[in-house]
Amino acid sequence: MQLVMVKKSLAGLQPVALPDGYCLRHFRAGEDKMWERVLDESFGPATPPRLFATTMGCDAACVPERILFVTRDDVPVATASAWYVPAWGASAGYVHYVGVCHGHTGRKLGYWVSLAVLHRFVFEGRSRAVLQTDDHRVPAIKTYLQLGFRPFLVEEDQRRRWRAVIETNGFQPLCPELEQVVSGPVHKCPELLK
Ligand SMILES: CC(C)(COP(=O)(O)OP(=O)(O)OC[C@H]1O[C@@H](n2cnc3c(N)ncnc32)[C@H](O)[C@@H]1OP(=O)(O)O)[C@@H](O)C(=O)NCCC(=O)NCCS
Repeated sequence: MQLVMVKKSLAGLQPVALPDGYCLRHFRAGEDKMWERVLDESFGPATPPRLFATTMGCDAACVPERILFVTRDDVPVATASAWYVPAWGASAGYVHYVGVCHGHTGRKLGYWVSLAVLHRFVFEGRSRAVLQTDDHRVPAIKTYLQLGFRPFLVEEDQRRRWRAVIETNGFQPLCPELEQVVSGPVHKCPELLK
């Protein structure tokens, strides 16, 4: 099962402050291929191909304003989506498909576009945020810890997995609650936030 991270409060979010030359906007109708390109360049190509229509477009949560792009010269180079997955509870926004194109990594664009997603959640009246990730996604996990997300156990085995992720990468200062989390309860997934 994937790792889960929760940000318990969306109060007091800092403003989005992109590096010079980058802009934030939402998806526009017909930009399916742009989203697919950003995903291919960040996550790597998928087999079968990752199509916008079947990954995002067919979901009831899909509205253009929830799919955010960071652009350079109006060309999308990073994305994250402010999704809504009812199973996680109405108060929770779901951070979906965060990716930065290879030529643009190292500038914290993942942080800023994910922060913009959190602002969108607030706009929609949500009070917390959840996401799923994988143990090997180290830059993503660091980004989420910096945004105030914390590990949330949904499986017994994740006590060991979280300890490994945090300690191997020296993330303890970003996650002072590690011991508390790994010795705490395992939550029922995905009904944990209801
Ligand atoms: C996650 C992602 C969006 C982050 O991109 P980004 O914003 O350019 O992130 P950065 O390269 O600035 O890295 C973020 C932080 O992780 C650190 N980092 C990167 N690789 C690292 C590694 N191998 N070990 C430890 N830290 C690492 C960076 O130094 C940076 O730290 P800083 O904020 O202290 O400078 C990008 O890596 C990506 O698209 N990954 C593939 C798709 C993915 O995994 N998406 C998330 C799915 S849940």
